[in-house]
Amino acid sequence: MTLDVVILAAGKGSRMKSEKAKVLHLLGEKPLIAHVVDVAKSLNPQNLAVVVGHQSEEVTKALPDGISLVNQEKQLGTGHAVSETVKVLDGDEGMLLVMFGDVPFVTSSTLNRVLDGASDFSITVLTAELADPGNLGRIVRDASGNIKKIVEAVDATEEEKTIREINSGIMAIRKSDLIRWLPKVKPANKQGELYLTDLVEIALAESAKVRAIITDKPEEVLGINSQWDLSQAERLLQKRRVKELALRGARIADPDRLDIRGDVEIGNDCFIDVNVVLEGSVVLGDDVSIGPGAVVIDSKLGVGTKIHAHSVVEGAETQANCTIGPFARVRPGTIVEERAKIGNFVETKMARLGPGSKASHLAYLGDADIGADCNIGAGTVTCNYDGVQKNETKIGDGVFVGTNSTLVAPIKIDKEAYIAAGSTITSHVKENDLAVGRSKQRNIEGWLPPSKRK
Ligand code: UD1
Ligand code: CA
Repeated sequence: MTLDVVILAAGKGSRMKSEKAKVLHLLGEKPLIAHVVDVAKSLNPQNLAVVVGHQSEEVTKALPDGISLVNQEKQLGTGHAVSETVKVLDGDEGMLLVMFGDVPFVTSSTLNRVLDGASDFSITVLTAELADPGNLGRIVRDASGNIKKIVEAVDATEEEKTIREINSGIMAIRKSDLIRWLPKVKPANKQGELYLTDLVEIALAESAKVRAIITDKPEEVLGINSQWDLSQAERLLQKRRVKELALRGARIADPDRLDIRGDVEIGNDCFIDVNVVLEGSVVLGDDVSIGPGAVVIDSKLGVGTKIHAHSVVEGAETQANCTIGPFARVRPGTIVEERAKIGNFVETKMARLGPGSKASHLAYLGDADIGADCNIGAGTVTCNYDGVQKNETKIGDGVFVGTNSTLVAPIKIDKEAYIAAGSTITSHVKENDLAVGRSKQRNIEGWLPPSKRK
């Protein structure tokens, strides 16, 4: 069976209350339209067309190559959109599958149910039974249960409005019939639009065969019309991703409080606490645990790494058994080698922390190469930026940097050296040396503050 697919995406989506065309709104990092295009492509149609109109330039940019564009200048209705499409499709053989750019969840297995045996019918409509059918088109059936017509909620009688079976908008139509019937669609309805759904009555008037298939997965035909619909769709998508992660062995504290905005690779026995966001490409080794409120972006965490609460880790790599946080900010280019520790209120960027080294509290380590088993005291700052360029701090193995030290880069501190607390270090410190870079303490005996002076 030759198959063409058209995705209708010309509408503005005024109910989104947004300047942006509806199909460009993001669902799981991808515009709505891209979800629909992906599933449409999986059917390998001979032609895949997208009807664009509102913000056509921007919508077109969100589409991959190899798609036939149909420009619908005025959005006169779904029937009009399909008429414009038929003009650019070759021939009248096979079936046209109509999809909507704002129905992003449908899967290829459901579409295949629609297409299976579809060539024996003029029209196959995918429907769903919903507890709350809202503004969707209703499926009216006759006494023997056959589909009679589709009526839009605005045009429906009170009785029709009580029908819970709705039109998903997904429809397979025999092309030869479609071409013949489209001119019969008239804007005789409350919205003055050309409704594609009128084809059902037109077909039945000719005694053509029409069937309606009810999906057993109504969540798949959820249409996005408002920001509320979009946020519910996002939850649904997240739930799918979280479930998949759990089935790959992750222990997840609460499936409703984890967001996966990218691709996650995961080892065994990982634990992810509540309100965690994983973004971009995240790779977790075995036994990794991520504390509440942590954000991990484009990072690779080694076996046994623990990310404590409210830490943000981006573009970083940790090796085995590292600890990060709570409240750490680990920025791009950070490499934390095995057993190393980055504690609370520590910020790192382009920094390597060698095996077993610790920066337990309150430090800024940027453009720093730190060897093994170093202790970086609280308040240590690498002054890496001179206003023009970034300079490196190089610290050898076993160095002890005392509290509140200022390391003015470029600077080199050789292995086993000591930096006295409160020092400002501006020149090379050699192996085993103690550098004291502070003014000598001087006490003024019997000093009185102004208030106590006579
Ligand atoms: C449509 C259906 C309704 C169904 C619902 C499912 C019709 C008449 N109604 O209603 O039965 O229950 O979808 O979600 O078909 N579009 C164009 N050009 C146009 C008009 C619309 O490309 O001239 C596109 C929109 O961008 C959108 C899709 O078609 O992606 C559906 O249009 P929309 O206005 O959202 O239709 P609904 O009122 O939701
Ligand atoms: Ca819609």
